[in-house]
Amino acid sequence: MTVAILGLGNMGKGIAARLAGKTDLVLGVRDAAANAALSAQFGNARVASIADAIAAADIVVLALPYGAALEVAARPDLAGKIIVDISNPVKPDFSGLSIGHTTSAAEEIQAVASAAKVVKAFNTIFASVFAASAASTANVPVFVAGNDEAAVAAVSELVKLAGFAVENAGGLDAARLIEPVGMLNIRFGYGLGRGTAIAPQWTNVAA
Ligand SMILES: NC(=O)c1ccc[n+]([C@@H]2O[C@H](COP(=O)([O-])OP(=O)(O)OC[C@H]3O[C@@H](n4cnc5c(N)ncnc54)[C@H](OP(=O)(O)O)[C@@H]3O)[C@@H](O)[C@H]2O)c1
Repeated sequence: MTVAILGLGNMGKGIAARLAGKTDLVLGVRDAAANAALSAQFGNARVASIADAIAAADIVVLALPYGAALEVAARPDLAGKIIVDISNPVKPDFSGLSIGHTTSAAEEIQAVASAAKVVKAFNTIFASVFAASAASTANVPVFVAGNDEAAVAAVSELVKLAGFAVENAGGLDAARLIEPVGMLNIRFGYGLGRGTAIAPQWTNVAA
């Protein structure tokens, strides 16, 4: 299974660090030459252009701002691939989400990437959480949602490989609910001063 991570910002690096050495990994960036040295940080993963990374991959993680993810998702070379959408479509002033209720970032990405299979994942995990030990996140849920069963299964395996637990939220429309949870996490983390070493989790309550 070859995984391409497009974008090596905070999230791209965090996910790459968790997957390095565990799966065939390609790091897709706009300027591959300028980023070539990053390979050594991530288990000698290949650093490639966006086009080469997509061509090599079965699963393509869009570790990009929502607007850029929408642009990239429209590429015809993503046909047949599994796309992982990790975005929170936050307003520029972080006061809330720019879309929701009747659609979601994941569904908008699926609409432009109609020949790919989009799965929502990782949007409730702060980038800094990836720096914690895998043991400390083994029970931290990543909410996963998608319409293609095989794609959801493949991304669920990826989530576990990255050192997290899977909370399957059902079809891609669940992203309308998961993205506000991501926004709530941002509010707790930044607005209410809890910091970014937090993650939302569902709990079973004893009767
Ligand atoms: N940060 C978090 O804690 C967090 C948590 C959960 C979800 N998310 C979501 O994760 C996504 C990434 O967030 P981030 O914090 O990692 O952002 P970031 O640090 O700003 O990194 C974004 C990356 O996207 C690349 N990029 C931007 N426009 C591009 C384009 N048109 N084509 C190709 N690459 C492009 C940038 O590459 P260059 O270096 O070439 O500019 C940069 O490496 C966002 O959707 C965010 O909502 C973030």
